[in-house]
Amino acid sequence: MAHKKVYIYRLFERIWHWTQALLIFALIFTGFEIHSSYTAIGFENAVRYHNVAAISLIILIIFAIFWHFTTDEWKQYIPTTKNLKAQINYYITGIFKNAPHPTRKTLLSKLNPLQRLVYLALKLFMIPLMVITGLLYLFYRYPAKGRIESLEWVNLEVVALLHTLGAFMLVAFVIAHVYLITTGHTLSSNLKAMITGYEELEEDADGEDQHGTEPEQKRETTHIEQQINDTEK
Ligand code: HEM
Repeated sequence: MAHKKVYIYRLFERIWHWTQALLIFALIFTGFEIHSSYTAIGFENAVRYHNVAAISLIILIIFAIFWHFTTDEWKQYIPTTKNLKAQINYYITGIFKNAPHPTRKTLLSKLNPLQRLVYLALKLFMIPLMVITGLLYLFYRYPAKGRIESLEWVNLEVVALLHTLGAFMLVAFVIAHVYLITTGHTLSSNLKAMITGYEELEEDADGEDQHGTEPEQKRETTHIEQQINDTEK
């Protein structure tokens, strides 16, 4: 099948993605030193850089939420069960037998059904879990009236446990994510797309590149398409 180069990741999306990746790597690296898993830069430095990276990530998340809603990109994460089983089977067996991808990446549907579910869970549960437990960790003791007060309703052991559990889950996500990056139509096509913004997408027999797989998405995401076309000009 013929391929066509399509501008799929806009500049903000790429900057957001790589900054987030960098900050999460920094949080994992410093977080597990705080956890005493190893000694690299020293506990105090680890705490200092962990706090800086955490606040930077929170600021980035605020910008990203704004971007997702102003561009309608949040619709990319609406979950669907259509082709979900086929996608899971593809990752378990099909990929090792050179089977074709069960879903096609398109301008209006960048995420396959499994990615939609996983990224939605990441945005709705994992990131909020880390931010909320992290902020509680940071501010459960605070200065008031010349002395140190504590948030009495906070059980720090539970906070530490949830924060650490979330950290392990994020490490697992990062490992799976890095592996899945290599499963595009070539080994490096997904990575290149997130760097340059351009990806080679399959064209239909009539030469048209695909614009969404489900009819209702077509209607809802025309706005996104228009904006992408505008940025391309
Ligand atoms: C985004 C908001 C986050 C905030 C505000 C935050 C804040 C904190 C704070 C204040 C601590 C305790 C430091 C101390 O003991 O003095 C901590 C520990 C830790 N953080 Fe984070 N963090 C965040 C995100 C993350 C992420 C994304 C990861 C890793 C994926 C992570 C991994 C860890 C780990 C492993 C510890 C050690 C936990 C323990 O042993 O009890 N944090 N974090």
